[in-house]
Amino acid sequence: MELLLLFSLISFPLAMRLNVGNAAGSSLSPLASGRNIERHSTECHHMLKHLYSGAQVAVHMPPNITAQWVSSSCEVRPGPEFLTRSYRFYHNHSFNALQFYYRDNHCTKPTYSLLIQGSVHVQQASWAIRGGTEADYQLHRVLLMCHTAEAARDLSAKLSRDCGLDEALKPEESYELWDRATGRDCTGPLGFSMQELLLLRVERHYRHGDPDSQTKELLLGDLHTDVSRRRVHKPSSYQPPLQSIKHSHDHSCIICRIMSRGSLQQPPSLPPQADSPVRVQGHWVSQRCEVRPGVLFLTRHFVFNKDGRTWEGQYYHYADPVCRLPTFSMHAIGHYSQGQPSAKVMGGTEFVFTVTQMKVTPMDLATTSLLNIFSGDECGTEGSWRLGVEQDVTPTAGCAALGIRLPHTEHELFRIESDPSGRRLLYNGQRPTNGSSPNQPHKRATSYQPPLVQCSPGNQGGLNTGREGDQNFRLGNGCIGCYCDCRFCLSTLVWALVILQIM
Ligand SMILES: *[C@@H]1O[C@H](CO)[C@@H](O)[C@H](O)[C@H]1NC(C)=O
Ligand SMILES: *[C@@H]1O[C@H](CO)[C@@H](O)[C@H](O)[C@H]1NC(C)=O
Ligand SMILES: *[C@@H]1O[C@H](CO)[C@@H](O)[C@H](O)[C@H]1NC(C)=O
Repeated sequence: MELLLLFSLISFPLAMRLNVGNAAGSSLSPLASGRNIERHSTECHHMLKHLYSGAQVAVHMPPNITAQWVSSSCEVRPGPEFLTRSYRFYHNHSFNALQFYYRDNHCTKPTYSLLIQGSVHVQQASWAIRGGTEADYQLHRVLLMCHTAEAARDLSAKLSRDCGLDEALKPEESYELWDRATGRDCTGPLGFSMQELLLLRVERHYRHGDPDSQTKELLLGDLHTDVSRRRVHKPSSYQPPLQSIKHSHDHSCIICRIMSRGSLQQPPSLPPQADSPVRVQGHWVSQRCEVRPGVLFLTRHFVFNKDGRTWEGQYYHYADPVCRLPTFSMHAIGHYSQGQPSAKVMGGTEFVFTVTQMKVTPMDLATTSLLNIFSGDECGTEGSWRLGVEQDVTPTAGCAALGIRLPHTEHELFRIESDPSGRRLLYNGQRPTNGSSPNQPHKRATSYQPPLVQCSPGNQGGLNTGREGDQNFRLGNGCIGCYCDCRFCLSTLVWALVILQIM
């Protein structure tokens, strides 16, 4: 074990350096493929290369979660549920978590709130989700308070049916839904679960030379998209990050300030705003290295053409949680149609997407040999895959080895919002947690993935993201050994050495 750790200490920086060199050298850059997209969007290219708008990101391992953490926007959970969260973790492992639920998608009209008390113990680095840390939790108490007569009526009906509640709930009174001492648990009918505490990640973001700009984010585990599986789900990605109150020097976070004052009796109401029209035309890119269930790390770049019906998407896949070690990229081309505002998810709009053409570029040796071994006549020209060389897999109707079948149609849910600095954000539907595809209307998502930000092609000004080739990621002090699990580091070391020999 010690030997393995030693290896990981050595190999990770090596792999990082090597990869940075590759990215600068361009033939292996994931951004070199999809040239059609890139030619028109130097700025988007730049934003993807410098994720987090050029801020430096440190991942704390093990994470110190002692702080108060709050939502920075109205969150949408599968169902849908609209909520904000304000969680406080103490030194002695106990926590107080407030969840505020709303009737509307801008979180202006509170319906009911939960106060959850318990304890949480941070455990080891996660083997399944690189960059995450596992934790255990116990619940001690869950209190419910309704804020409107209507919410009290709705919840009374649910609780009397499934929990033998004998009198109707009254607004502004608190009720105990869970009590460890008596073993009473009435949280089921609300779809309540704190399984999100099983997976944690803390990120510190700061701009070079500007300690005042520091922000800290807590990412907690995701929720199953099938609400009935929520209580047994083991998280495999994350929810939107919570902001640390103490570190929100960012005065633009008005919502954090409103959130920090909320209580069970006084749920925060976020500032009202109108729904933004869903006009998707233009270029959109990821803001962070995204984690997908099934241990995929990726960044995305979508282009919706002016004709209002054709689109292209570039998906860059990586082996590591800071998106530095590319594995393969996919360039999808197809058409789409914009449908009606969603009747189920307030603020969402329905879309239908079809992929008709797909190009794949293997970016590491493991993927290259996988494609050569498994391709047959089902993934491009048999045995012809070469590292860093794009191939069109449309003639073979996709790529069996990567699970791509063409043509492929998906039923989507979109929404557009502006962030506090006025940039437009595009949200598309969360993919079903069970790995299936939303290929029928009833499988359409009821919640969203992390948003993409609009990047304006041709406009070179206004982005202060540092020089080309800057190394923008820094891992926290003392975190390198535990940051990457040993299997990962060893295999990275092996790949790194092989690549070195080839070059
Ligand atoms: C964790 O953070 C809190 C608050 O910032 C600090 O008081 C505490 O000393 C930290 N704990 C550790 C183990 O670093
Ligand atoms: C932990 O600390 C908090 C705040 O200091 C306190 O309210 C709580 O009772 C403590 N919990 C335990 C189990 O000691
Ligand atoms: C996966 O989830 C979708 C949508 O929730 C559902 O329709 C489908 O039946 C599920 N498939 C399996 C194999 O569980």
